[in-house]
Amino acid sequence: MKPLEIHNLTVASGERILLSIPAASFDEGVMYGIVGPSGAGKSTFLRVLNLLEKPRSGSLSIWGHKVNAAELSHSKGVHLQRQMAFVAQKPAMFQTTVFDNVALGLSYRGVPRSRRAQLVRKALDLVGLEAAAGRKATSLSGGEAQRIALARALVLEPKLLLLDEPTSNLDPANVAIIEQIITRIRKERAMTVLMVTHHLQQARRLSDQCLFLHQGQIIEQNDTEAFFESPRHEALQDFISGKMVY
Ligand SMILES: Nc1ncnc2c1ncn2[C@@H]1O[C@H](COP(=O)(O)OP(=O)(O)O)[C@@H](O)[C@H]1O
Ligand SMILES: [Mg+2]
Repeated sequence: MKPLEIHNLTVASGERILLSIPAASFDEGVMYGIVGPSGAGKSTFLRVLNLLEKPRSGSLSIWGHKVNAAELSHSKGVHLQRQMAFVAQKPAMFQTTVFDNVALGLSYRGVPRSRRAQLVRKALDLVGLEAAAGRKATSLSGGEAQRIALARALVLEPKLLLLDEPTSNLDPANVAIIEQIITRIRKERAMTVLMVTHHLQQARRLSDQCLFLHQGQIIEQNDTEAFFESPRHEALQDFISGKMVY
């Protein structure tokens, strides 16, 4: 059973089609890098997958459980959302401690307090910020906040992790730290990861497969090495060689 399959997905704003994906599927335990020019629809894609945004049409199969995403009810949506975790490009920190920021999702899910503490410690350890548990989350640096956002997602033990540009706006040292964390969690957990990134080299370093999203369409999808070494479509060749301005 595949973690995620997409059928006839379209997202529109008025007359404008933002996303059009006739079919796509994602395998268990695989990390996918999603690249493409700015405005291609990458963030829209992740938001629709996480059911934060309703498509105009289309269905998603999540572990074989097919849902009409355009007509999804809230209660059914919540059930599906709980299999996933989404890290937004600019994650907001709540004005509480780091610990409470990470524990929040578990509270919503009714996880008992003692178990919560255990899971939060484990997640903080994964991102190397166990010592920051008692600090005010709004006092964190950009890199630390991004790590806490990751911990907030990981604590939920999602089967599907959706990352939207997890290292944009970070300095090289913090980019390296986030990349190490992603590499480590992939070793420790069987998760399917979809990561949008504008760093082509990051997609190449971390992903098993890459997708090129252009003007709302998946133009190309391939194993990472082939994706970069022998891109088939001209638009992807231009994008990789830097000829496409983005
Ligand atoms: N809620 C929205 N309503 C209307 N247009 C939107 C909305 N969200 C995004 N867009 C437009 O859709 C296109 C894709 O945006 P986005 O998914 O953010 O692209 P990317 O993440 O690839 O840069 C852009 O042209 C953007 O202006
Ligand atoms: Mg985006």
